[in-house]
Amino acid sequence: MAVERTFSIIKPDAVAKNVIGEIYSRFEKAGLKVIATRMVHLSRKDAEGFYAVHKSRPFFKDLVDFMISGPVVLSVLEGENAILKNRELMGATDPKKADKGTIRADFAQSIDANAVHGSDAPETAKGEIAYFFPEHQVYSR
Ligand code: PPS
Repeated sequence: MAVERTFSIIKPDAVAKNVIGEIYSRFEKAGLKVIATRMVHLSRKDAEGFYAVHKSRPFFKDLVDFMISGPVVLSVLEGENAILKNRELMGATDPKKADKGTIRADFAQSIDANAVHGSDAPETAKGEIAYFFPEHQVYSR
């Protein structure tokens, strides 16, 4: 199986709940290694740029407002099948539909404050990682 990289955000709700360590622990137990990390309070410009693909969706402003409401933790995760593995750990976008034991089922309240973001495909992962981390800040195996 291929070793992949994926991009993760621990969102403001999860940071405020003090579960950064719990979430990192789930990544590590699943064989995902944190190879870059930074805590940051995103600017509106950064959040709008990151979510530009969702610009025309009705929730765009709410999503951006939420993502700049407090600090977030940005990470690059590396491991076998990292993109899918992280999506499985996260659970469905809507925490009410997320499987028991997933991050969103355990830590998220609603679809607009859903604890984590994770890349959905290799091309997206590449772009999302590059958006926040220059290659020299990524510490691979
Ligand atoms: S996904 O992950 O792309 O398949 O999910 P999608 O449903 O397309 O949602 C894209 C991102 O928008 C967030 N979202 C919302 N934010 C605020 N309000 C509402 N109603 C809402 N619906 C979806 C969702 O959490 C996704 O954010 P990320 O950070 O990509 O997980």
